[in-house]
Amino acid sequence: MIHVALFEPEIAGNTGNIARTCMAAGARLHLIRPLGFRLDEPALRRAGMDYWRELDLSVHPSYASFVETFRIAYRHGRVFAFTTKADCHYSQVTYREGDVLLFGPESRGLPGEVRCDACSVRLPMVAEARSLNLAASVAVGLYEAWRQTGFAGGE
Ligand SMILES: C[S@@+](CC[C@H](N)C(=O)[O-])C[C@H]1O[C@@H](n2cnc3c(N)ncnc32)[C@H](O)[C@@H]1O
Repeated sequence: MIHVALFEPEIAGNTGNIARTCMAAGARLHLIRPLGFRLDEPALRRAGMDYWRELDLSVHPSYASFVETFRIAYRHGRVFAFTTKADCHYSQVTYREGDVLLFGPESRGLPGEVRCDACSVRLPMVAEARSLNLAASVAVGLYEAWRQTGFAGGE
């Protein structure tokens, strides 16, 4: 299984979209607090639609707590930080089951110290573009990782 982690996500609709993508790709979604919305917000559920119920979801009280939980429970996985500030393209990595794809908040991206904890990768863009939408970034990154792991569980 591939893990998707959202560091302090701010927009309910984006997280709902991502929840739906994770559900479709058999990925576990980790939300790292503080969140910019309540987990019972209608926009979140609307975007995730009825998939929300079947979602494999973990909510972590802080980034430190996420790192600690991950170190113990998922010790074979590696963390890849998706950021516009990386040199390495996301497609140059060989992903494995258990890896975590970590994404930053919509308004500010991942803080430097978090980027340093992980191997950083970026989605190529034309020079004029500043960044992709968070939900779009997750979809591209997750489907590449899932493709490389043989679309495990997919049909
Ligand atoms: C809307 S973007 C954040 C934009 C923020 N102003 C910044 O400069 O990072 C939200 C998240 O999507 C992911 N993302 C967006 N574009 C990306 C790209 N080209 N490469 C890798 N990650 C990207 C990153 O995880 C980012 O933190």
